[in-house]
Amino acid sequence: MLSLRAVKVFLMNLYTSVQELTLELKKQRKNNTTICLVPTMGSLHEGHYSLVHKALEKSEYVWVSIFVNPTQFNNKNDFVNYPKNLNKDIVTLNAISKNIKIFAPSIKEIYGENIEPQKFDFGYIGKVMEGKFRENHFNGVATVVIKLFNLFKPDFVFFGEKDFQQILIIQKIIDENFHKTNLIRCETIRNKNGLALSSRNKLLNKRDYDNSNIIHDMLVFSKINLIKIPYKKIKAHIISKINKVENFKVEYFEIRNEKTLFEIKKNKIDTGLRAFISVKVNSVRLIDNYLLN
Ligand code: PAJ
Repeated sequence: MLSLRAVKVFLMNLYTSVQELTLELKKQRKNNTTICLVPTMGSLHEGHYSLVHKALEKSEYVWVSIFVNPTQFNNKNDFVNYPKNLNKDIVTLNAISKNIKIFAPSIKEIYGENIEPQKFDFGYIGKVMEGKFRENHFNGVATVVIKLFNLFKPDFVFFGEKDFQQILIIQKIIDENFHKTNLIRCETIRNKNGLALSSRNKLLNKRDYDNSNIIHDMLVFSKINLIKIPYKKIKAHIISKINKVENFKVEYFEIRNEKTLFEIKKNKIDTGLRAFISVKVNSVRLIDNYLLN
């Protein structure tokens, strides 16, 4: 049960309409407050909190947006089943700092009646991996991120390397449209066994959750063996090893240049290589990536 005082603080820091938000941002700008924004889809965990802490280092006030964006889900069930926990998110953010302001709009507030993604062409970085396996995903991400950036006109935005390809897409959007905004990359937060924290982990049963450690183990395997074993063999080994786990199916495992996202050729090893992986565990999709050199 929340105390009345706590409820008041929550309500003070919670913004659900664009109108209220715009008024508050106007005040902040007048006071020369640095505008920091951490966009999320809620069901927050330590990975999200690490972004919030980074943001609190940059500015006295930090905005966290919580919005499960329908247009970035290529699968309706994934959207419907996406974990939602707004009350708990608000309580936890408030416990981190009273200076965190939350923007949690309805779908209508963001999209009106037209719940459709805009179409973008991000070139090669938008066509591989997540771009290939999740049709329209980056169109949806870009649509909502641009809406948020237009509302907040943020000085700093915080994104996690857990979604590495998303960072490249958002950096491109910033380079093209939001010149005063700086993107701060935040490292992936993992559990004690190396599994990257993700809101979707909550959808796994205990056995699948425990077995998911294999994803990180295989990323580490690829790092250790990058110069010892041909790429093709590393790839085949990892895919076969993970696919042997009950309920696990690799969508892709690829080693790519972390700037261009070009896949490495045979044994040609340059620097800035990153392994990227997506695994379906039952119907839950887990992604991760790992810097190799
Ligand atoms: P969401 O999955 O909620 O993630 C919000 C932010 O938290 C992203 O920048 C993501 O990379 C970061 N994050 C998630 N897990 C993390 C972890 N284990 N360690 C570090 N950072 C982590 O990404 C989205 O939402 C949406 O696509 C969004 C950008 C909000 C647009 O709808």
